[in-house]
Amino acid sequence: MKNVVIIGASSGMGLEVAKLYLERGYRLGVGARREDRLQALQQLAPDRVVTQAIDVTDADAGERLRELIDKMGGMDLFFYSSGIGKQNRLLAADIELNTMNTNALGFARMIGEAYRYFAERGEGHIAAITSIAGTKGLGPAPSYSATKALQNNYLQALEQQAHARGLNIRFTDIRPGFVDTDLLNGDFRYPMMLKPGKVARQIVGAIDRKRHVAVLDWKYALLTALWRRVPRCVWRCVKL
Ligand SMILES: NC(=O)c1ccc[n+]([C@@H]2O[C@H](COP(=O)([O-])OP(=O)(O)OC[C@H]3O[C@@H](n4cnc5c(N)ncnc54)[C@H](OP(=O)(O)O)[C@@H]3O)[C@@H](O)[C@H]2O)c1
Repeated sequence: MKNVVIIGASSGMGLEVAKLYLERGYRLGVGARREDRLQALQQLAPDRVVTQAIDVTDADAGERLRELIDKMGGMDLFFYSSGIGKQNRLLAADIELNTMNTNALGFARMIGEAYRYFAERGEGHIAAITSIAGTKGLGPAPSYSATKALQNNYLQALEQQAHARGLNIRFTDIRPGFVDTDLLNGDFRYPMMLKPGKVARQIVGAIDRKRHVAVLDWKYALLTALWRRVPRCVWRCVKL
């Protein structure tokens, strides 16, 4: 039986992945801000789910994570699904800064704490949902695309650092395209929308196979491979 910690388990892909791991019989430590949602998840398997209220933007969120790990008696896999994202075509300052706070500072805080835990323990696996949005700067969502690129690079940097230090820590950077979750709720209609349940199964498969990077699904893998080839002078004229 594995001990899996999932931060961002209160909705969307984090919740779907949590349900899949419960079906496997794993023990879960789940964190997010909405405690009622976490408690509803706990009701599915009360003896195998431990909850912890965590706001990743709080300075002491790393300590809350350590408390959760202690309550579980250890952690084998850290799965990170917390994040926010909004279109911000008029560059409202609060949206930009909140996104930076959650997706950049919160991400570094929580991934960093998991890394330090696994470094002390000698082994572990860190998997995080980033996004295909980190592939290029996206005009409709500047802070979202910028923080997703930061997340991609942060995981890559930690992977290299862990290797240099001889630490047996595995990393999986999961980059989905548009997924039908609360994050995208709004008036805007997104193309090529994926179902969260199906994406969750692909995420678990990528973690099982210990993939370093998984772009989901194959259509988005193709799309982002094309995006990467678009020169800067053309990209700046693309209307998204
Ligand atoms: N939906 C998409 O199209 C899509 C595509 C690519 C990548 N992603 C990424 O996938 C991840 C999961 O998003 P989702 O699509 O599953 O949306 P979601 O249903 O809105 O889930 C977001 C999760 O993040 C948690 N969260 C947000 N702010 C937090 C904070 N300050 N502290 C702790 N937890 C926080 C939320 O929990 P609480 O509100 O309860 O705290 C929730 O559990 C995000 O990183 C998102 O950027 C989404």
